[in-house]
Amino acid sequence: MMRALDRCHNIADLRELARRRVPRPMFEFMDGGAEDESTLRRNTEAFADYELLPRYLVDVSEIDTTTRVLGAELQWPVILAPTGMSRMFHHTGEMAVVRAATCTGTLYSLSTMSSFSIEDIGKETDGPKMFQVYVFRDPELNLEFIERCKRASYQAMCLTIDVPTFGNRERDLRTGMTIPPRLGPRTWAAFARCPAWVWNYLTKSRMAPVNVAHRVDHQDVVSVAQYVHAQFDPSVTWERAEQMIEAWDGPFAIKGILSPEDARCAVKIGATAVIVSNHGGRQLDGAVTSIDVLSDVVDAVGGQVEIILDGGIRRGSHVVKALAMGADACMIGRPYLYGLGAGGEQGIDKMITILRSEIERAMRLVGCRRIADLDEKFIRSRQ
Ligand code: FNR
Repeated sequence: MMRALDRCHNIADLRELARRRVPRPMFEFMDGGAEDESTLRRNTEAFADYELLPRYLVDVSEIDTTTRVLGAELQWPVILAPTGMSRMFHHTGEMAVVRAATCTGTLYSLSTMSSFSIEDIGKETDGPKMFQVYVFRDPELNLEFIERCKRASYQAMCLTIDVPTFGNRERDLRTGMTIPPRLGPRTWAAFARCPAWVWNYLTKSRMAPVNVAHRVDHQDVVSVAQYVHAQFDPSVTWERAEQMIEAWDGPFAIKGILSPEDARCAVKIGATAVIVSNHGGRQLDGAVTSIDVLSDVVDAVGGQVEIILDGGIRRGSHVVKALAMGADACMIGRPYLYGLGAGGEQGIDKMITILRSEIERAMRLVGCRRIADLDEKFIRSRQ
């Protein structure tokens, strides 16, 4: 396995290795986006519309990538985003991700839909961690999560607001990754091509959204997933979000902000951070791209809340561009999942090593020593 990881020199290489090691239905679930995937594609392509303007003959012998967001000191400015059911991609799932985050000094975000529980992750690490919630139909469930996170020493909460209904992910319709799943001959053939994954799944894995399993009589993955789906309430508004912020009373991020108006609403209800995000192109296809609206959000609420840029980051230079445009930190989802699928914890470590060295190299080449000094003088828009 090590040799295959050694041959990975960038995030695209790790994606390719994950594609070979994870059964196709799971890989497509991880990799895909909604409908024509135009937002998914543009999330990364749009970074090319902004170009770095380097300064030379600056002392860049020491590069400082530390920063502070959501009450946590980070060794490097990239947070690992919440992603559900990570055991689908490797049997070590979220446990491998949180270990890698802690070892490298960044903030880990656990999804409500995770396959390890709030308490499992709390016991595993003293490092900075954030729990991601939705505003669920049952207010008791929201309060239960907040209490459990306080007991398990989470630093921050993150409320995802861009799921009034589920995005239309057609790759999952084709592969049968639906609720309930539709397993046909092609699914079995896909599993047969990944014997190591199947062996680990049968002998070591337990796949269910465990954070809510105790609320369901039959704790199989389908029943739990159906319960969670029924909890999504398209009628919720900012008032319910405000109640959650009051109940948590600590660093609180709102994830899924794309318009300056929503950013102002987040500030008004007391959020301490906004995450500029279109859910990695998995929700509304045709939605604007995070990097394209970042400046508008910075103009609207910069200085009042922390701003985190999420979606499409595949290179260290993307991180440097977002920070120069006013983000305080960035967030990644698929890049670490590619690492997980490619080689478990070692694969995530590899991804982090690659991305960190790209960030440091880009900072040296652009002539900037500290994250705090990256600003608009280093960036030009092509339009
Ligand atoms: C996600 N994302 C997500 N977001 C969230 O708030 N709660 C969740 O449970 C999930 N689950 C999830 C699963 C998978 C497989 C992916 C790929 C993504 C979205 C995630 O937090 C983040 O916004 C995107 O992944 C960012 O885009 P990139 O970095 O993947 O391009």
